[in-house]
Amino acid sequence: MSDVRSYFESEHHREEFRKHLARRTVPVKFAFAGSGALTYEALANSDGYQEVVGELDFELDALFGQTGLGQGSADQVCEVGPGNGLHTAALLAALTARGLAPSRYLCLDFSQDLLTIVNRPLAKFPMEFRSDVWDFESGATGSIARWRRKDEPVLGLMLGHTIGNPVDPLSVLRNMRDSLNPGDLILISVALLPERADEARILSPYRNETFTNAAIEPLRAAGIPSELIRFDLCLRDVDVIGDAIITGNVTAMGIDIAAGERIRCFKSRRFRGAEFGRLVEAAGWTVTRQAQDGTAEHGAILASAA
Ligand SMILES: C[S@@+](CC[C@H](N)C(=O)[O-])C[C@H]1O[C@@H](n2cnc3c(N)ncnc32)[C@H](O)[C@@H]1O
Repeated sequence: MSDVRSYFESEHHREEFRKHLARRTVPVKFAFAGSGALTYEALANSDGYQEVVGELDFELDALFGQTGLGQGSADQVCEVGPGNGLHTAALLAALTARGLAPSRYLCLDFSQDLLTIVNRPLAKFPMEFRSDVWDFESGATGSIARWRRKDEPVLGLMLGHTIGNPVDPLSVLRNMRDSLNPGDLILISVALLPERADEARILSPYRNETFTNAAIEPLRAAGIPSELIRFDLCLRDVDVIGDAIITGNVTAMGIDIAAGERIRCFKSRRFRGAEFGRLVEAAGWTVTRQAQDGTAEHGAILASAA
């Protein structure tokens, strides 16, 4: 059980969460905000999670191609959903080793608390760092246009399977497209579902207390005690699904929840091979290069905005 004191990051988050709780399906974004930023940080530092978010090599492969000569870098980089910043720091170190470190870096995230955490691992890189709050499920943002140096391309990043969590990944990819300019690039890394997926293997990184604590933290912030939550995981078609089964009658945020009810609090959509490229193109991007790791469980795509 987590010993974190549970809270929402803002009154606005609390109000939005309450509406979703009434429908018994809460978006995953709340698991990264408020006290969720702390339970997520514990998760992001765990070994199993590294397996879920993937590796760096195939991201570099998508950026530069196997020859290493492809042009996938830019002097101004905007990352969306940086998590705790460790993945970002690893990518920045790899770019620095190639002499391609950006001089300006913008991080955008749903959670201000998480953006504060990200400051630490990025402080060692000599670049101008800015951050701003953006809910990428709510429409396009003007933050990138306000921040960018005009007439120079931006490289957008969405790493570590961030695109698997939103309710509607296609609209998030469109919102990214509408927030960037023609000539800009985006690198997206995703978790893939191999043809013959082994359910036990796919679910194993999620079957631990640290993950359960992170997934149910927003429900605890809503006032549902952990003792009344049984966390249930399954792979349904292409989705890893996590439901909280409430084991006793409880009233949370003024909402009566009966013993036995399920609240959907986690979803991570996997993509099948070529399907993800089609989704990126359907959102208005042109795919430049794709890469996969050796297990065909992780992929990365570099795309340009026409
Ligand atoms: C799965 S974590 C990935 C973290 C990191 N990129 C990595 O590779 O370790 C998802 C990230 O996306 C952010 N996020 C989730 N939903 C979001 C939303 N609707 N709008 C903006 N950011 C969101 C989370 O706060 C978190 O930083």
